[in-house]
Amino acid sequence: MPEVWGVIDLAAFEIREYSSSDLSQIKKLILEAENFGDPFLETEILNIKKNVELGLGQVFVAVQGDNIIGYISLGRRVFALMIDSIIVGRVHQRKGVGTKLVEKAKAYAKSHGFRLLRTDTGTFMDYAIQFYLACGFEPCGYVEHDFSLGSKQVHFYLDLTKESS
Ligand SMILES: CC(C)(COP(=O)(O)OP(=O)(O)OC[C@H]1O[C@@H](n2cnc3c(N)ncnc32)[C@H](O)[C@@H]1OP(=O)(O)O)[C@@H](O)C(=O)NCCC(=O)NCCS
Repeated sequence: MPEVWGVIDLAAFEIREYSSSDLSQIKKLILEAENFGDPFLETEILNIKKNVELGLGQVFVAVQGDNIIGYISLGRRVFALMIDSIIVGRVHQRKGVGTKLVEKAKAYAKSHGFRLLRTDTGTFMDYAIQFYLACGFEPCGYVEHDFSLGSKQVHFYLDLTKESS
């Protein structure tokens, strides 16, 4: 862990690829995250496994010491990379962890030849909308019945050809 003037920097974290031993901590993040929780657990885990084990994408985790403090799950589409999900633990939010995970997603997408990064979120999730805008995404659509019947989603895109590497 990095030290600053002899003092351990507790805020330091690193981003690395997911490994199967991270699963129990990932489950905890899903269960405790706002707008996730138990109804999402099984599908989220299957999605993570699909992306990692079938090579349909990649999952990156943010790690502080031995703790997984966030993750981003990326799924390949034919011509785009999709942020299937991103969660940062509540006590670690607003410290730039989510931004670093999205930066990793951008780098991964570009290194795999994608020109488009996509994501979406519920119209009621103001904080997530603010987050994606802050990360450089632009709104590109609205779907009335997307996630479930009556759930309104905003779709976002990020043109990776405009991003400096
Ligand atoms: C969305 C989420 C991943 C953001 O992660 P984070 O690590 O807190 O994000 P960052 O610290 O990198 O924030 C970057 C910027 O995004 C915006 N932002 C992030 N969270 C915000 C909030 N709660 N309210 C308003 N703006 C917010 C701000 O502009 C912020 O910059 P600032 O802190 O300098 O003002 C996190 O809130 C989260 O995991 N939420 C629960 C799960 C979830 O809803 N995921 C998204 C599903 S679509």
